[in-house]
Amino acid sequence: MKRYHVTTFGCQMNEHDSERMKGMLETLGYGEAPDPDDADLLLFNTCSIRESADSRFVAHLGHAKRRKRENPDVLIGVGGCWAQSVKDEVFQRFPFVDVAFGPGQIHKLAEFLTSDSLTAQGYFEFEDFPAQLPTKRAKDLHAWVQISVGCNQRCSYCIVPSTRGRESSRPFDVIVDEVRRQAADGVREITLLGQNVNAYGRDLRVGGKASPRTFAELLHAVDAVDGIERIRYTSPHPQDMKEDVILAHRDLESVCPHIHLPLQSGSSRILKAMRRTYNRERYLDRVAMIREHVPDTAITTDIIVGFPGETEEDFEQTLQVCEEVGYDGAFTFIFSPRRGTEAAGMTEGLVPHPVKVERMERLVEVVQRRAHDRAQRFVGRTIDVHVEGPSRTDPSRLRGRSPHNKVVNFTGVATPGEIVPVEILAATSQTLAGEASLLATATAR
Ligand code: 5AD
Ligand code: SF4
Repeated sequence: MKRYHVTTFGCQMNEHDSERMKGMLETLGYGEAPDPDDADLLLFNTCSIRESADSRFVAHLGHAKRRKRENPDVLIGVGGCWAQSVKDEVFQRFPFVDVAFGPGQIHKLAEFLTSDSLTAQGYFEFEDFPAQLPTKRAKDLHAWVQISVGCNQRCSYCIVPSTRGRESSRPFDVIVDEVRRQAADGVREITLLGQNVNAYGRDLRVGGKASPRTFAELLHAVDAVDGIERIRYTSPHPQDMKEDVILAHRDLESVCPHIHLPLQSGSSRILKAMRRTYNRERYLDRVAMIREHVPDTAITTDIIVGFPGETEEDFEQTLQVCEEVGYDGAFTFIFSPRRGTEAAGMTEGLVPHPVKVERMERLVEVVQRRAHDRAQRFVGRTIDVHVEGPSRTDPSRLRGRSPHNKVVNFTGVATPGEIVPVEILAATSQTLAGEASLLATATAR
């Protein structure tokens, strides 16, 4: 039997695409090789979101090159966003690559593997919603559910619209049917995936006629599926975070109390240059609406420091928003110019690297201090924790995730996949610590 090994970089969308690659390869008769040294097919599912993502991947390719030199029959495939962003240049830069394909072009990989093609092939055209593919799920009780592909936003820093194409929603009933099948298969937690999930459904057509649906309607339909206990989604855009979605968090038991609301910058001037389509006030209005309807819900965010033109004053406004909102967590990034994006062509007000680094340090201080404050509200509560495995820092303890998406390390006996009540005894900015509570029933979701 031929064996494959997939290395995945980037976001959850890529993790899901990798599961679909594996599912497809297994239907072609391949088996998984846990060690890349044993594989006949080495696949890389790449990311291009930031410079660091590019360079991590290039470092990995050295190993593939060595394998190919030792055994020319080993096939090397490069898929995903980085491949899409450089297209056929993949073959010039890395002549040992046999097949390259863009995100969502997994079926083309099958076409390549089942053809007699002896020459390297690249597949980079955009398509509508890719055909249904079998999936090999990494965790039995959790499933990713892709609800749309592509993105119609034009954030000036972002490479995604050019790597993943125009937005296209997957038909409503097809998604709900997939969730029903997964639930019947034992799945209890799902994550709805899209580049801009809450723009879902506007483009849907039935029999050639416009037949729009909303993301909130989808949340209701998925909540109604028997057996699904937790629903998460990523990523939404603040512009489309409407009241109906926030009310779904309040009214639907399975929708987790966590909203990721990417800020990017707290300065309206920079937000405009980023083409984010909201300003500081509109963003803070969204936060106020969330706090009004679902005050306990965790809010997390993404922030970029050092965007071209960002002054000390602009940056201080970002710090102020972080102080004011008090995020439960934030992903913070140093701006890096991405090929072909509008921001990569900006030449004025470029922020020197040491200034970017210094701003990043100040930002992380505020984010962590506020996250630490916010996390104290969990101490003393008993929370349902979805067990993932042993704790990373102390293997005698267990690790899981709370409905608020906090990592929880705890003592107790439980198997991965189980949902157990844990009494929270301490909280830092990143994690909660507790004890499995044998008698208590969870008092908070
Ligand atoms: N530079 C730095 N960070 C970026 N992100 C996207 N593009 C860039 C870039 N060019 C960040 C944004 C986005 C997250 C996934 O990555 O914050 O929300
Ligand atoms: Fe995901 Fe964006 Fe990276 Fe593509 S470029 S893998 S969409 S994070």
